[in-house]
Amino acid sequence: MIISSALDYREAARRRLPPFLFDYIDGGANAEQTLRANVSDLAGVALRQRVLKAVGEIDLSVELFGETLSMPVMLSPVGLTGMFARRGEVQAARAAQAKGVPFIQSTVSVCSIEEVSAAVAKPIWFQLYVLKDRGFMKNVLERAMAVGVTKLVFTVDMPTPGTRYRDAHSGMSGPFGPQRRIVQAMTHPRWAWDVGVRGKPHDLGNISRYLGKATGLADYVGWLGNNFDPSIGWSDLEWIRDFWKGDIIIKGILDGEDAKDAARFGAQGLVVSNHGGRQLDGVPSTAQALPAITEAVGAEMTVLVDGGVRSGLDVIRMLALGAKGVLLGRAPSYALAVDGGAGVETLLDLFAKEMRVAMTLTGVTSVDRIDSSILTRPTGG
Ligand code: FNR
Ligand code: LAC
Repeated sequence: MIISSALDYREAARRRLPPFLFDYIDGGANAEQTLRANVSDLAGVALRQRVLKAVGEIDLSVELFGETLSMPVMLSPVGLTGMFARRGEVQAARAAQAKGVPFIQSTVSVCSIEEVSAAVAKPIWFQLYVLKDRGFMKNVLERAMAVGVTKLVFTVDMPTPGTRYRDAHSGMSGPFGPQRRIVQAMTHPRWAWDVGVRGKPHDLGNISRYLGKATGLADYVGWLGNNFDPSIGWSDLEWIRDFWKGDIIIKGILDGEDAKDAARFGAQGLVVSNHGGRQLDGVPSTAQALPAITEAVGAEMTVLVDGGVRSGLDVIRMLALGAKGVLLGRAPSYALAVDGGAGVETLLDLFAKEMRVAMTLTGVTSVDRIDSSILTRPTGG
C-alpha cells in the first residue's frame, strides 16, 4: 500500500486493527457531528495564496513553554496507545523525540510513565484527568516529577465519559465484548502477534502501579469509569497548581469564559479541544471556537488547539486561526497502528513537508509570522 498521507494511514489502520480498536480511535460521541465538523470546518478555512514573495529558507521551529520544537506540533494524549502497536507509547515517544516534537503521555496509557521515560532521552509531557481518587492524582504527579516531567496537560473535558455508539457495536463495550474481541484478534493475525502476544502486559501501567495488583484491562477501565468526577470545580484544583512545579496546560476549553477562568487559575497554557468530538456531540468545531479564545486570552497564555488535523496544511490553518501549536490525536495513532514508530516518523515528515508547501505558497518563512493575514477571510472559521 502506498502511503502519502494521514488518510492512507487511516485506511491501512482500518485493515490492520481489530475493529474494536479501529472504531475506538476513529469514532466519536453520539451522531459524530462534532467529529465531522472538526474536519470539515478546518477544510473550509481558506488560505490566501501569494506569489513571487521571494520565499527562501523556511523555518518550522517554534518555542513553546521554554522548549524548542522542530515544528509546532505535539502528539496528543491518546489512551490505550499500547494496544495499537507493541508497547505503543514507547514507540510513539521515541518517534516524536526523533523528530523533535513532544510526546504527551495519557493517564490511561498501557506503558507506565516510568517505562516510557526510561526509553527516551528527553522528558515526556504528561496528561492527567480530574479524578475522584486524589491519592492517585498525587501519586502520578510525584512519579511524573521523579522522571523529570515539567509539562502537565490537565484534561478537564471528561467529568464523565462521552456516549460512544461505535464502541458498543464494535465489541469495545457492549454484550459479549470479551468474546468478540478474541474473535477479532484471531481474524487480525498481524495485530494479534505484534500486540496481542508480544505486546503484553495489557494493563494500564500508571494505574496498576498505583493499585499494586495485576488485573486485566477491563478492571482498570472500570476503575477509571468510576473515578471521573463531575463534582469538581476550579477551586478544588488549587492544590494541584500549588503541588506541581512545572507548567500547567488546561486541555478541553471551548468557551471564552472558561478560557478566562483557566487564565485566572494561573495555567500557562490551554488546549482548545472538544476531545476530538468524543465527548459532547453538537458542540462547535475547534476551528470555529479557536479565534474567539485566542482573542480572549492569547495575550496572557499560550493557546494550543487540536481536533480534525489530518495534514500539515491543517496545521497551518490552525496557526492562522490563532494557535501557537497543534496537538495530533488520530493521525499519529493510525500511523502507529500501521507501522509502529516508523509510521509516526513518516507521518511527521509528511506533515512537515506539507507545512513547507503551505508556507511557501502563502509567502511566510517562519511560524511566528503566521496569522490571519494568510487567510482570505481574516477571521476564518
Ligand atoms: C483521545 N483523547 C484523549 N485526550 C486526553 O486528554 N486523554 C486521553 O487519554 C485521550 N484518549 C484518547 C483516545 C483516542 C483513541 C482518541 C482518538 C483521542 C483526545 C485527544 O487527545 C485529542 O484531543 C483528539 O484526538 C484531537 O482530535 P484528532 O486529532 O483526533 O482529530
Ligand atoms: C478517550 C479517553 C481515554 O477519549 O480520553 O477515549
